[in-house]
Amino acid sequence: ARLDARNTFGVRATASMLVEATDAAALPELFGYAMLRDASTLVLGGGSNLLLAGDPPGAVLALDTRRIDMVEDDGTRAIVRADAGVGWHDFVLWTLGHGLAGLENLALIPGTVGAAPIQNIGAYGVEACEHVHAVEAFDRDGGGFVRLAAADCAFAYRDSLFKHVPDRYVVSAVEFSLSRTFQPRLGYAGIEDELRAMGVDGSPRAAQVAEAVIRIRRRKLPDPAVVGNAGSFFKNPIVPAAQAEALLAAHPALPMFRGADADSRKLSAAWLIDRCGWKGHRDGDAGVSAEHALVLVNHGQASGLELLALARRIAESVQLRFGVAIEPEPRIIGATW
Ligand code: EPU
Repeated sequence: ARLDARNTFGVRATASMLVEATDAAALPELFGYAMLRDASTLVLGGGSNLLLAGDPPGAVLALDTRRIDMVEDDGTRAIVRADAGVGWHDFVLWTLGHGLAGLENLALIPGTVGAAPIQNIGAYGVEACEHVHAVEAFDRDGGGFVRLAAADCAFAYRDSLFKHVPDRYVVSAVEFSLSRTFQPRLGYAGIEDELRAMGVDGSPRAAQVAEAVIRIRRRKLPDPAVVGNAGSFFKNPIVPAAQAEALLAAHPALPMFRGADADSRKLSAAWLIDRCGWKGHRDGDAGVSAEHALVLVNHGQASGLELLALARRIAESVQLRFGVAIEPEPRIIGATW
């Protein structure tokens, strides 16, 4: 099966077998078949956080499951359960339509609900893990379904338990804890300005914050339907505070955020890459977005390997100029970083 239309970079790749399941209950039986059981199986969501630098070695599994259920609702908080196959942005709109707040800053992120906890998607000052209540998954090692509480998922910046044991769990559904009272999170640069430009003053509604985020994303990030990309290609590097201070002394404009603890800082990879002159750069059809230095783009016929080669050159130049190692955010298939 061709995977060209199943990865948002739009690169050519082929799966020796593609299995589409419309009911997660089929997973135990499916993983009884040797082709899935004995090899690594690539679980594909929206294909928006993936670089296919080669063909996946085993089968490819996609979950086409679409249920959303209100599990609990006490009038102030609600638990909502969504199947892995639900589109992330559709889910955000569903929650907002049901008067539930919490996910508005995460509007318009590509991909599926099932992929959200794996890299702990985040944007505009909010991470998915803040609202994940539990993750349901098929455990390939144990052969049955498990329900992992959020505290057991080892969530961190663009990271989770699921990334550390890549072939073990197939996320089948996610439960989110959401609120009926809205506490806006407007700290991230640009949101308040956007609300003002929309004519919203004072206290915005959750749907208006989502709208502001959508407008910013449409302006700053290339639409994968128009030009192939996988969002941010690099994670923002986390460095020791002392190294961050030294860099800041040499480059006062370097954007810096707090890290996970007092002793670390998160640097803007986009800024570092931009300063190395990569924005808008093109090697054939593999390029760096002219809108955002963190986004690699496929202008047409770039291969996964060409995009990977460009990514390596970018990382090398950042290492050389700033002494900072940057690492890819998307999952790379068919090559190692
Ligand atoms: N900047 C540049 N050049 C650029 C773009 C940005 O110098 O071309 C600098 C600017 O100073 C800007 C700063 O970088 O203020 C930060 O840029 P931005 O607000 O776009 O955020 P980011 O750190 O580049 C992260 C996430 C995005 C998320 C935005 C907004 C990661 C790896 N990326 O990007 O997530 O949408 O914040 O919250 O953490 C994704 O993961 O695919 C993704 C798009």
